[in-house]
Amino acid sequence: MKRTRYDGFHIALHWLIAALIVAAFGLALYIDTLPLSPLKFRLYSYHKWMGISVLILVAVRVIWRHTKGVPAPLPNQPRWQVVVANATHHSLYLLMFVLPLVGWAMSSAKGIPVVLFGVLPLPNWVPVDHDLGEILETAHKTLAWILAALVAMHAAAAIKHHVIDKDDTLRRMLPGKS
Ligand code: HEM
Ligand code: HEM
Repeated sequence: MKRTRYDGFHIALHWLIAALIVAAFGLALYIDTLPLSPLKFRLYSYHKWMGISVLILVAVRVIWRHTKGVPAPLPNQPRWQVVVANATHHSLYLLMFVLPLVGWAMSSAKGIPVVLFGVLPLPNWVPVDHDLGEILETAHKTLAWILAALVAMHAAAAIKHHVIDKDDTLRRMLPGKS
């Protein structure tokens, strides 16, 4: 039978990753307002753990997606909408990989190790270089804002489908029966 909904594991990953991204983003903006202090460093560690968790979970999700597949676009949608939705989803996946990787690279270039959950030291995979660290910091912040803009557009589209078109777009990404 042709699938009409996302499967439970994909749905769980979608919302878990979305929550982690929103939390990492909000936390980063909050940390920026704090003076240098042990609290600031601790919160940066939490920010990094959330970001690396996104990287790991999105890798699991892409493997799952390729193994299990996803439902076809809903019928009766204009072609342009299917093309824009596809392009947005691909860009979101790309950014979910690139943004944490650039964050990790930035930390490496600045010579600050990332210790995942305080127990697992991750390798510094970029040479320590102050100028490179600054460039990666700008890239990280710019990419984060691009991701935020895409997410806002993506969420607005989902709500528009639910409230105005009254179709199944949002329902098939929510837990429940088909
Ligand atoms: C979903 C993943 C992530 C999101 C949404 C995100 C978002 C952000 C944002 C918005 C800022 C800028 C805050 C400001 O205005 O100062 C920031 C800064 C930062 N992020 Fe991330 N980030 C993510 C992942 C990571 C990862 C994986 C690392 C490192 C392992 C990291 C390390 C940092 C650091 C060190 C800064 C502070 C840069 C500075 O001002 O010196 N981030 N992040
Ligand atoms: C950080 C936040 C988010 C990210 C990174 C994100 C990412 C994605 C991605 C990559 C897909 C494509 C799934 C696939 O086919 O493999 C997707 C689907 C979907 N997302 Fe999100 N999402 C986020 C937040 C939201 C929010 C807040 C909503 C609702 C208000 C939402 C509603 C949906 C819906 C309904 C689909 C299914 C679209 C369809 O069937 O064509 N997402 N999301």
